Amino acid sequence: MHVPFCVVKCGYCDFNSYVVEDRSVHDTFLEALERELAASWRGAPPVSVFIGGGTPSLLDPARLERLLQILARHVDLKDAPEVSMEANPESLTEEKAAIARAHGVRRLSMGVQSFHPHHLRFLDRAHSGERAEQAFAEARAAGFDNLSVDMMFGLPGETFDEWRADLERAIALRPDHVSAYNLTFEPGTRLHRDMQRGEVEPNEQEVDRAMFEFTRSRLAEAGFDAYEISNFAGPGGPCRHNDHYWLQGDYVGIGPGASSHRQGVRTTNSKPIESWAKAALAGLPPSASAETLRPRQRAAEALWLGIRRRDGVDVAAVEARLDLPVREWFGALLDEQQRQGLVRWDGACLRLTGDGLLVADRVGGEYLAIGVDR
Ligand SMILES: C[S@@+](CC[C@H](N)C(=O)[O-])C[C@H]1O[C@@H](n2cnc3c(N)ncnc32)[C@H](O)[C@@H]1O
Ligand code: SF4
Repeated sequence: MHVPFCVVKCGYCDFNSYVVEDRSVHDTFLEALERELAASWRGAPPVSVFIGGGTPSLLDPARLERLLQILARHVDLKDAPEVSMEANPESLTEEKAAIARAHGVRRLSMGVQSFHPHHLRFLDRAHSGERAEQAFAEARAAGFDNLSVDMMFGLPGETFDEWRADLERAIALRPDHVSAYNLTFEPGTRLHRDMQRGEVEPNEQEVDRAMFEFTRSRLAEAGFDAYEISNFAGPGGPCRHNDHYWLQGDYVGIGPGASSHRQGVRTTNSKPIESWAKAALAGLPPSASAETLRPRQRAAEALWLGIRRRDGVDVAAVEARLDLPVREWFGALLDEQQRQGLVRWDGACLRLTGDGLLVADRVGGEYLAIGVDR
C-alpha cells in the first residue's frame, strides 16, 4: 500500500512521492484507496502487508487510523505473518506508533540515512540524527519489538570514518533489521541533475567499496545476517515482503504508482495522485500500464532478482516453477560470468562471488539484457 506524501522531496529519491500542503488531498487519497482495495483484493490471506511510500507516518493520527481500518476490512492484519510500515523520524510520534501497533502493524522501518547534519542537509532530510534516535525510542516505547533502520552510504564527499561512525550509531540503536544502501544517482532526481551539471561528484568507487565491505563485516560481527546485498537480518529476521518480491511472488499494489504482479502479468497504477484517485473513485482500474512478461523476460527477472539474495538462485527450481528452459537460454552467460569470477555456478545453483557482489547491478543487468533482446 503506497502512501505518496512526504514532508520534503529528497533530492536523491525517485519514488512516487509528493509534497502536498492541502490536507484534504489526504482524505481523497483515503477514499480512493478504499475503493481500489475493495475492487482489487481477492481475499487470499497475504504473506505480508507492507505500508510504504512516501511517508505513511506523515498522515495525522486520525487518518492513519482510518487507513488501517480500511485495510482491516479486507485483510486480517492480526493473522498476517508480517505487517510492516515505513516511518520517518520527523513525523512519527509515540501516538502514531501506538495507533499502528494497536491496529496490527508489527514491524516499523525507519528511514534514518545518516546521523551527520551536513549529510542530512545535503540529502534534504527533514530531521536530525538525534530526532531519529528519539523516534526510534518512541517506537520501542509504543511496543514495537521489530524495528528496522534504513541507512545510506557513498554520499558525495562522505569519508570512510563518517560512514563507520554512522553505522556504529545505527547499531547502537539495537535495531532488529538493517537496510544499508549505496546511494544511487537516479535519473530525474535533483541529485542526478546536479551531477550532470558538475555540481556534485559521486564518491570514488574505491571509497564506496571499502564502505560496502566494512558494512558487511561490521554487521556480521554485530550478529546481522546479510541475506541480501543491502539487507541484514538481526533478531527480527529477514523481511518476508522483500523475499516474496525477490522470489517473484504475486503481489497487489494499492495507491498511486503502485504495481501489482499476478502470474507473470504486471500492472502499474497511474502515478499522479489526481489521475489515480479519479479512476479509483469512478470505480475504474487506476492502472496506467499492463504488461504480460514474455517467457525469457520472466526467466531473466528470476535471475536478476534472485542473484541479490545470499542463498542465490536455485536455477533448477526456477525452471520447474516457470516451466522454461532457463539453463538453455542463460547457460553460456552464466559460464562466462563464472569464468570472470563474478558468480559461482555449478549447473544448478547460482550465487554471486565476493567480486560479483561489488558489481551486482551489472551482473543482473546482463540477465535482463538477454531477457529483453530476444
Ligand atoms: C523510498 S524510501 C521510503 C521510506 C521513507 N520515506 C524514508 O525516507 O526513509 C525507502 C528507502 O530507500 C532508500 N533510497 C531511496 N532512494 C535511494 C537512492 N537514490 N539510493 C539509495 N537508496 C535510496 C532510502 O534508504 C530510503 O529509506
Ligand atoms: S526518501 Fe522517503 S522522505 Fe525522502 S522523498 Fe523519498 S519517500 Fe519521501
